[in-house]
Amino acid sequence: MPISLADRVNSISPSQTIAMNEGARRLASEGKDVIDLTLGEPDFPTPEPILEAAIKALREGHTRYTSVAGIPELREAICAKLRRENGLEYSPEAIVVSCGAKQSLSLLIQALVGPGDEVVIPAPCWVSYVDMVKLAEGRPVVLPTLAEKGYRLQAEALEAAIGPRTKALILCSPSNPTGAVYSREELAALVEVLDRHPQVFLISDEVYERIDFSGQGASPASFPSLAGRCAVVNGVSKAYAMTGFRLGYLAADPRLASACAKLQGQSTTCAAGVSQRAALAALGSDPRLVADMVAAYARRRDLVVSRLEALPGLRVFRPEGAFYAFPEVRGLAAWKAAPEGRRSAAISSLLLEKALVATVPGSAFGDDSGLRLSFATSEARLEAALDRISRVLA
Ligand SMILES: Cc1ncc(COP(=O)(O)O)c(C=O)c1O
Repeated sequence: MPISLADRVNSISPSQTIAMNEGARRLASEGKDVIDLTLGEPDFPTPEPILEAAIKALREGHTRYTSVAGIPELREAICAKLRRENGLEYSPEAIVVSCGAKQSLSLLIQALVGPGDEVVIPAPCWVSYVDMVKLAEGRPVVLPTLAEKGYRLQAEALEAAIGPRTKALILCSPSNPTGAVYSREELAALVEVLDRHPQVFLISDEVYERIDFSGQGASPASFPSLAGRCAVVNGVSKAYAMTGFRLGYLAADPRLASACAKLQGQSTTCAAGVSQRAALAALGSDPRLVADMVAAYARRRDLVVSRLEALPGLRVFRPEGAFYAFPEVRGLAAWKAAPEGRRSAAISSLLLEKALVATVPGSAFGDDSGLRLSFATSEARLEAALDRISRVLA
């Protein structure tokens, strides 16, 4: 008898990023030299002092369960980081450490969203938000944003999207996939709207916070009127090149944080103890470790943007943070010729087959007009990829 799966599995989609990545791997296994620009993780090794701390932690016997919300030292270090770098005041009871920022987001959505609740998500967006809301039986309200408005949600669009069932808004700054960063003034305009709708909770995904070339980024949690109804999500994956440690955290009102800890206690129990020790070392590490990686991303951003700008049919938004470029490709003949909804996928497939360069179609982020290229790879590989793309698009 076939296994009868629960409906919730059918309500969500498999990751298109992973699908493109698998396409690239298949071609590579046939001996083709594929340049993979699908990756959503730093190409740098985890810095040595963090590795040393992890090894030391293992040798010292930190190989057991920890308290559900995380070891006290790490929760205190997170409070200190939020105070020092973001001007945010939280007590350790407000912090829950999880297996990646992804789990932190999932816990918050499970804790806040119920059947029929609407969650506003500006697109292009990281699609896991959409699927997480669906898993909570909520209704994602995906709001398109425009390149000419810097891929930032506008106050009027937010006002128009909020209705009686709106439970939350998710903001991601710097954004995956566009690299857009909300300045304090831009956030203030959105907060003014939220002030008129006190039932709407704000989830602020700040995982790319340290990779901000604009220096303009701010946390919406710093607006006093959002006190108690804004949760901050962050982690060590992107800033410290620690994706495999699976370590993220949330900071929220202690009542909400304790609801999230309750959910975590019945799912993964706690983040790995060794990863928590490594994260503690990361948060206390020399700021130059991150600064050097960010300087390299900034150089690559400049390289990718200048090369993409030289291509006909593309419109390029200059990323202000994170490590992705999201050029608009709707000026290309192959985009126009493809069926609606499959147009960015057609360009991605063309680039994979003809240029042996793997990218992620914008449709994976709820926007079929663009493509995501990750610049978390060396300048030499980026140059080679852009040479190939230029040849194919010419
Ligand atoms: C926007 C965004 N949020 C959250 C995450 C999750 O990061 P992690 O679970 O590795 O901490 C990612 C990872 O790709 C991301 O791009």
